[in-house]
Amino acid sequence: MSRLTDQFSLQGRTALVTGGARGCGLAFARGLAEAGANVAVFDVVDPDTAFYTIEKEYNVRTAYYRVDVSSQESLESGFSQFQKDFNNALDICVPCAGINRHLPFLEFTYKDHHDLVSINVLGLYFTAQLAAKQMIANGTKHGSIVLVASMASHIAVRSQLCSAYCGTKGAVRAMCPAIAKELAEYDIRVNSISPGYVRTEMTAAFPHLVQGWESEAMNGRIAEPEDIMGACVFLASDASAYMTGQDIIVDGGVTRW
Ligand SMILES: NC(=O)c1ccc[n+]([C@@H]2O[C@H](COP(=O)([O-])OP(=O)(O)OC[C@H]3O[C@@H](n4cnc5c(N)ncnc54)[C@H](O)[C@@H]3O)[C@@H](O)[C@H]2O)c1
Repeated sequence: MSRLTDQFSLQGRTALVTGGARGCGLAFARGLAEAGANVAVFDVVDPDTAFYTIEKEYNVRTAYYRVDVSSQESLESGFSQFQKDFNNALDICVPCAGINRHLPFLEFTYKDHHDLVSINVLGLYFTAQLAAKQMIANGTKHGSIVLVASMASHIAVRSQLCSAYCGTKGAVRAMCPAIAKELAEYDIRVNSISPGYVRTEMTAAFPHLVQGWESEAMNGRIAEPEDIMGACVFLASDASAYMTGQDIIVDGGVTRW
């Protein structure tokens, strides 16, 4: 193996991806597995059939757990089952589970906003916390947490009514360097990814907006989940060993013109 290939290799490592049943999370799970990692997925829906091909295709171990990241009880019992099954191994955590709500700012209710905060902010924060505790306990020297933020934390999304979503993703990006600072002494790195428009269930409800999104991107197209995957594998691997507390925007240039 060349030095560079070696830096990107996740051979022998174990990863946990929340929201990994489909969309970006599933692409992240696949990418991490292709680089050699065993991958566990937490989600509230059954995984796409593509999830079940990963194990054989890349000769790694995979597992799915039905976990609601917005529930402390569900999250803790998911972690405890995962720890038992994987003998406490954990090197990489990608808290990716997230939801959006499209409502005008003037009509947002406490309930709608609360749902977003409990999944996108609290769910992500405590996933990262439990993962960090497990990494500290198992003494990994390759700890990496990759938080999933959004381009919506950098700009107001032109065609959508998602002020609360933008706020939750801003929280993710703001907490990233603060957590990174506290985990540096344990050799655990923490970075975030901010995807642009990606073709997933989350955006499928807006077929009438796709053409506009394409014209917002410098490269004239919206992303497939696989377009975001490489950034996740990079941040998970030793290739990014000198990066922590940072955000990578993968948006086809939307936020840059
Ligand atoms: N699609 C985009 O354009 C886009 C852009 C920027 C950021 N993102 C972010 O990427 C992440 C993945 O979104 P996606 O586009 O793949 O959408 P998606 O809806 O396909 O995937 C989200 C996943 O999270 C899971 N999930 C939702 N609530 C959960 C909960 N309480 N507990 C556990 N799992 C839960 C869903 O079941 C689903 O599998 C989200 O955090 C989203 O905010 C998406």
